[in-house]
Amino acid sequence: MGCASCHGMDGKGGLPGVGAPDIRGASEARVRGALAGGVPLMSSFIKLNDEEVTAVVAYLKYLNERS
Ligand code: HEC
Repeated sequence: MGCASCHGMDGKGGLPGVGAPDIRGASEARVRGALAGGVPLMSSFIKLNDEEVTAVVAYLKYLNERS
């Protein structure tokens, strides 16, 4: 399951009932914290290595600047 399943293709969040927030422009610390256990819904089944986290953060930054 990808981030978009809950946070939406554009990162704006809003899948009804899930409560996933708008994450466009989220800092690396927020993404790491959520995946490290801050958000059990995410950390329980999403495992990303450092490189993947860096790529996700870069993409969220791009989404934030684009809109
Ligand atoms: C199963 C649904 C689900 C998936 C899949 C998911 N998330 Fe989340 N995410 C959530 C929910 C729900 C919250 C809000 C939790 C809260 O506010 O307590 C959240 C919160 C966050 C936050 C904010 C954390 C904070 O402390 O500010 C970030 C950043 C985030 N998600 C990034 C991601 C990324 C990146 C992915 C893909 C690698 C992802 N999420 C996949 C459901 C999901």
